[in-house]
Amino acid sequence: MPSKKLLYLIYIYFIIASISKATDELEEIARVGIIGAGIGGTSAAYFLRDLFGDKVLIDIFEKQHVGGRLAPVTIGGHNYNAGGTIIHPANLYMLNFTDILGLECDAHPEPGRLGIWNGEEVMFSTSDYLPVTLAKMFWRYGMDAYNIKNWVQENTLACMTNLYKFQRDGHAFSSVEDLLNAMCPHLVDFTRLSIRDLFKKDGFSDRFIDEFVYGALRINYGQTSGIHALVGSVSMAGVEPGLWNVVGGNQQVPQGLLRKSGANLIRGKVTTVSLSSDESPPVYQIDYLPGTSTNKDDINSKEYDIVIVATPLYKGVSNIKFEDFQKDIEPVHYDFHLTVASFIEGLPNSSYFGFDSVDSLPSCMMTTNESLFFNSLSKQKPVSGKTAEKPVYRIFSNKVLKVDELKQLIPEWSDLKVVSWMAYPEYPSSLKNLPSFTLHEQMYHINAIEMAASAMEMSVIGAKNVALLAYYRYTGQYDKIDELLTNDSSSEKTEL
Ligand SMILES: Cc1cc2nc3c(=O)[nH]c(=O)nc-3n(C[C@H](O)[C@H](O)[C@H](O)COP(=O)(O)OP(=O)(O)OC[C@H]3O[C@@H](n4cnc5c(N)ncnc54)[C@H](O)[C@@H]3O)c2cc1C
Ligand SMILES: *[C@@H]1O[C@H](CO)[C@@H](O)[C@H](O)[C@H]1NC(C)=O
Ligand SMILES: *[C@@H]1O[C@H](CO)[C@@H](O)[C@H](O)[C@H]1NC(C)=O
Ligand SMILES: *[C@@H]1O[C@H](CO)[C@@H](O)[C@H](O)[C@H]1NC(C)=O
Ligand SMILES: *[C@@H]1O[C@H](CO)[C@@H](O)[C@H](O)[C@H]1NC(C)=O
Repeated sequence: MPSKKLLYLIYIYFIIASISKATDELEEIARVGIIGAGIGGTSAAYFLRDLFGDKVLIDIFEKQHVGGRLAPVTIGGHNYNAGGTIIHPANLYMLNFTDILGLECDAHPEPGRLGIWNGEEVMFSTSDYLPVTLAKMFWRYGMDAYNIKNWVQENTLACMTNLYKFQRDGHAFSSVEDLLNAMCPHLVDFTRLSIRDLFKKDGFSDRFIDEFVYGALRINYGQTSGIHALVGSVSMAGVEPGLWNVVGGNQQVPQGLLRKSGANLIRGKVTTVSLSSDESPPVYQIDYLPGTSTNKDDINSKEYDIVIVATPLYKGVSNIKFEDFQKDIEPVHYDFHLTVASFIEGLPNSSYFGFDSVDSLPSCMMTTNESLFFNSLSKQKPVSGKTAEKPVYRIFSNKVLKVDELKQLIPEWSDLKVVSWMAYPEYPSSLKNLPSFTLHEQMYHINAIEMAASAMEMSVIGAKNVALLAYYRYTGQYDKIDELLTNDSSSEKTEL
């Protein structure tokens, strides 16, 4: 029960909050440094521009290319998405950006037929005719085939609806846990058990879990049904109908957001972030090697009021040092999963899978056998939306494949491109701690959200939250932060 004293404090708090600066009265121009120009960093720039108007100067540092894990690969004269490919119809930010930027959606590349291969036989495959597919699914998986759709709707998509509503209303959260809690409290529980255990608990059969769920996990995250249930349920949304990608390539979204935000792109690699003044408000210094230089003598520095880290802080993906902070900045460290995408122009050996012709072979083959050398084989459609003259297949694997391994699946080819990604976290079955978005008073980490689940839309959600946090702290509107956490337990929570 709130005491009189507490009510009084809240009262004072509101008075202070109401005399805080609002955007149009901002005298100073906020200086923001964003590290990483993937979809996370560029959407953060876009949201910051929206919040601050012309009272913000945004620099985005990028060591490789704008778009990050959204990048094209050219094979046989056509472009394909080499990294992040499919977008769910309920991913409203990606949908809105596509619209705002005047880009077009294309129905999922080769929806075609889906098959599940266990290393010895195709245990299940869909048909070109929906009624046949439904009958086959029912035959093999019983009511699970039907229940999964409702399960995904109730357990993840409904939570997304909550999120879009509270983010539109401007609510922001200091930590990933609090954000998930506000979406749906059960999402936090989902990070503490494996998708296998959750689905078993919710009554799905072993067969459905070992085949359908596992097959989807291998194609979407290259991992097993031992990964935590939150990322596991995001993976299930990735085999739903209605999936799409952006005509011309998904990387156009970050490129367009960068332009629209009016941020300055600084090509170079950030080496260190340090605190150059620990007075309040703090001032940060970003040190970077311009261009592709590796010579330490070339290091430049710039100062910022707000720093946004928009890349995973995994060693090998990004080795940014944090120096001169009173307290060590310790982002949660986690391993990253290697996913190799081999794009091949050629025809698969249909008899490898026991089919007598390529036409009868499912265009997307998922696998359920950990000792296989590949995770999936699927026919790709060029991002232009046109049909390629010669078919192109993509093989996902957890290592670089040898020529004889490739030849088992595709005996001959006229072109081959191999892209290796440090793709997404290596997910444990239970997360002890969900990382915080807040690394320091005005320093944030968007990719903290990737431990919950890695997807384009997740990075945008993190970016929106971080942009709001930065804006509210800069303008002194502290009441807007963690406001939805009205419980006593959470009001005791300290930030950092
Ligand atoms: C093979 C693969 C398939 C995927 N499939 C899908 C899918 O179908 N659907 C989906 O939604 N998601 C998918 N994903 C995930 C999705 O691509 C990512 O979650 C998303 O693109 C991450 O965006 P980001 O901006 O957070 O990070 P990134 O795209 O990694 O951007 C970070 C940027 O920071 C830069 N950077 C890092 N360190 C520094 C530094 N020190 N200085 C300067 N710059 C730095 C990097 O060069 C990079 O450009 C897939 C990912 C992979 C790899
Ligand atoms: C998408 O854009 C429309 C129109 O610009 C807006 O009303 C809606 O709130 C946006 N949705 C999200 C999730 O931002
Ligand atoms: C898994 O694949 C291996 C290697 O191809 C094979 O020997 C094994 O029989 C397969 N297991 C099952 C259950 O099909
Ligand atoms: C295709 O696969 C079958 C079965 O694995 C194999 O016997 C045959 O030699 C392969 N064909 C080619 C052209 O590699
Ligand atoms: C507050 O806690 C109660 C019980 O502990 C719970 O039922 C309720 O949903 C919580 N409210 C919020 C906003 O988290």
